[in-house]
Amino acid sequence: MNDIANRPADSQDLKRQIRQLESIAALSGGIAHDYNNLLTVIMGNISLAVEHVASDSKLSDLLEQALAASRVAKTLTRRLITFSKGGQPTKKPTDIVSLIENTAAFSLSGSNIRCELGPSNGTWSAFTDPQQIGQAIHNLMINAAESMPSGGTVFIGFENLTVESPNSILAPGRYIDIAIKDQGVGIPAEHIEKIFDPYFSTKAKGAVKGTGLGLSISYSIISNHGGEITVCSRLGVGTTFHVLLPASESAADAVEPAGVKKTPPISKKPVSGKGRVLVMDDEAMIRELTGNMLGHLGYEADFAEEGRCAVRKYQAALEASVPYDAVILDLTIKGGMGGQETIKMLKEIDPAVKAIVSSGYSDNPVIADYEKYGFCEVVAKPYEMVEFSQKLFRVINKV
Ligand SMILES: Nc1ncnc2c1ncn2[C@@H]1O[C@H](COP(=O)(O)OP(=O)(O)O)[C@@H](O)[C@H]1O
Ligand SMILES: [Mg+2]
Repeated sequence: MNDIANRPADSQDLKRQIRQLESIAALSGGIAHDYNNLLTVIMGNISLAVEHVASDSKLSDLLEQALAASRVAKTLTRRLITFSKGGQPTKKPTDIVSLIENTAAFSLSGSNIRCELGPSNGTWSAFTDPQQIGQAIHNLMINAAESMPSGGTVFIGFENLTVESPNSILAPGRYIDIAIKDQGVGIPAEHIEKIFDPYFSTKAKGAVKGTGLGLSISYSIISNHGGEITVCSRLGVGTTFHVLLPASESAADAVEPAGVKKTPPISKKPVSGKGRVLVMDDEAMIRELTGNMLGHLGYEADFAEEGRCAVRKYQAALEASVPYDAVILDLTIKGGMGGQETIKMLKEIDPAVKAIVSSGYSDNPVIADYEKYGFCEVVAKPYEMVEFSQKLFRVINKV
């Protein structure tokens, strides 16, 4: 036996690993945000180009394929951003059963793996950051699927659990115990202490290439939630991960539906409209793209590079009796006033201002709670014509 392989990670080790993970997270987060801006320009222009060609042409076909690939790139960027958030989660009462159900369906879609959910009646709601927990569970589901190359079933069980006396990891309190059980190859005893280490992977040579970051990300997310993740495994029989997450304090809390925000069903066609729209973005490429989109849709566009300029223009337009029908504000402006302060000032000038917040930072609290901050709508970057046009139309025409 090799005693290095069996060495349990002590808390110093763990701290070092988490620090290492945090610096990777910071790096990938920076890249992801820049990448997201570029992706906005790529997706926006392709979706605009689609509008200019006959829908049954070969060219339209090719553009649709490029769009489909950029949608995948968009998902990857989202994941990187979620991962990079690292640090403290933004927690709220969460319907953990539907969050997990949706995540599992997403993770396993298109695979040969079935998912079976155990009884969940009466399962407490959890107190989590749904995006982060979605990511943590997704990583476990992907591992479960990869452990069953010729197909199988993942069982997911829910149990309420009360911890009476504190242990080294968990504070006393109410938890939800989520068991994720596969029928896969199992984990050899000499690996079990290492699976949560960053970069530990047995998939380097197989058909699927591993990064060795999946479990370490899940681990750090769950620890940041005051929860715990444990594993037991039998070779050739399967592996079960238990994830313990703190329950929401009041059982009657309003529970957010899991997954993405409630958006009304979206049809496939961009909606044209009329009116004057002020676009604030610090990226010239994005101002140009949004201007082109607006022009194509029938709007008149005006631009500001940062908040003060936007406020000045808004005020001037009001005074000249040619007010803007809507403003689209980027949340983060490098070296200038961003969307959150800008909307405050605009509200003072015109309480009825119709503002859309646009951002690549999908994890920003302003995005999650845009109405509270004074916005009517949110468009997450990267956006496409259809979504963009429909949201703008609804905001301007109050439908
Ligand atoms: N459900 C599972 N069944 C079998 N082995 C697993 C399972 N989950 C994790 N492992 C082992 O833990 C290692 C680390 O997992 P992870 O951190 O997700 O990295 P990766 O999947 O990229 O290899 C995997 O390479 C695999 O050896
Ligand atoms: Mg993995």
